[in-house]
Amino acid sequence: MSSTLFSPIRLGGVELENRIVVAPMCQYSAVDGCATDWHIAHLGMLANSGAGLVVVEATHVERHGRITHGCMGLYSDENEAALRRVIDFCRRAGTAKFGVQLAHAGRKASSQRPWEGGAFLKPDQDPWETIAPSGLPFGPGWHTPRPMVAEDFARVRAAFVAAAQRAVRIGFDAIELHMAHGYLAHSFMSPVSNRRTDQYGGSLENRMRFPREIAEAVRAVVPRTVALGARITGSDWIEGALAPADAVFCAKTLKAAGLDYADVSSGGISPEARNPNTPGYNVPIAEQVRSTGIATRTVGLIMTAKHAEAIVAEGKADMVAMARAILDDPHWGWHAARALGADVKRPNQYLRSGPALWPGAAAPAEAAPRVNR
Ligand SMILES: Cc1cc2nc3c(=O)[nH]c(=O)nc-3n(C[C@H](O)[C@H](O)[C@H](O)COP(=O)(O)O)c2cc1C
Repeated sequence: MSSTLFSPIRLGGVELENRIVVAPMCQYSAVDGCATDWHIAHLGMLANSGAGLVVVEATHVERHGRITHGCMGLYSDENEAALRRVIDFCRRAGTAKFGVQLAHAGRKASSQRPWEGGAFLKPDQDPWETIAPSGLPFGPGWHTPRPMVAEDFARVRAAFVAAAQRAVRIGFDAIELHMAHGYLAHSFMSPVSNRRTDQYGGSLENRMRFPREIAEAVRAVVPRTVALGARITGSDWIEGALAPADAVFCAKTLKAAGLDYADVSSGGISPEARNPNTPGYNVPIAEQVRSTGIATRTVGLIMTAKHAEAIVAEGKADMVAMARAILDDPHWGWHAARALGADVKRPNQYLRSGPALWPGAAAPAEAAPRVNR
């Protein structure tokens, strides 16, 4: 049986061993943007998940662009050194390639960690000023963001560029721009949060202008040997707001800006938006985005090897990403390979846990001697 999920894929200058991607997942465990020992444990574990690519959590391009006090950043030399330590370790310990998601939280910044409530920071919790396209809070009681002015546009663009340069120096294989989940770039694209009347508001083309400028500026400094992509919004799940046709326009624009892939996610622009909870709910949108010719990944309740294989084998997406299922089963890729009769790399130290261990599996051509040590 040959598996499409376990076939390689090329994204720009980067070849991935298979089409399984660990989705970016905030850990809220950084200190002033610096990765910690938690990241060594977490990303070290995911480095051996069997995924071809692990995308490091939303990593913010400026201090005030962080979602919470515990969010990761790439806005200082200290941040760069801390993340380099983690990625160097993961490369020594694991088999996956590594990407990083660069983000700015916009009007959803200055909030609590999920386990502290996940709401906006209260006055005694060291909140900070947030920025957005318009002065519209994310939800009732949330900070009212300051509408961005010319110097904010220039500073945030430059911050994305500087963070991308840091990511290249660290040696990431891929850089992913966060343009989803209601954060700054998405808040420009969505009519729910963007009521500007200048060249950054109004038509979809105008609302796409700032995300496009970021993409172009980052592409200009990221060598072709590093894959550059974006996580985009397939739907706001709000009547009259962003819909799949807008995601197609977004993907075309990003492809023209030189991006190598688009990852289709959805939701998050408002507390009222509710994502469907059906397996693979973004897959039909990804299929439309893929018709633009950009390499397409999707995410959202993809849990089983069979489902993941069907999505890529039927040409609905080129890659699948998983978040919660891989936290639950950190060797998800190994188990998927076994289910699909495919091969996946394991570190030397764990080779004896490979297919030969399992009843009914063919003995390896050159079985290692059975020694009890
Ligand atoms: C703990 C956790 C942290 C997350 N952090 C991020 C993040 O940093 N960036 C992002 O784009 N999505 C983030 N997400 C969303 C996931 O990447 C993914 O899109 C979502 O969980 C749906 O996929 P799943 O059904 O496989 O979990 C996070 C999800 C979880 C569970």
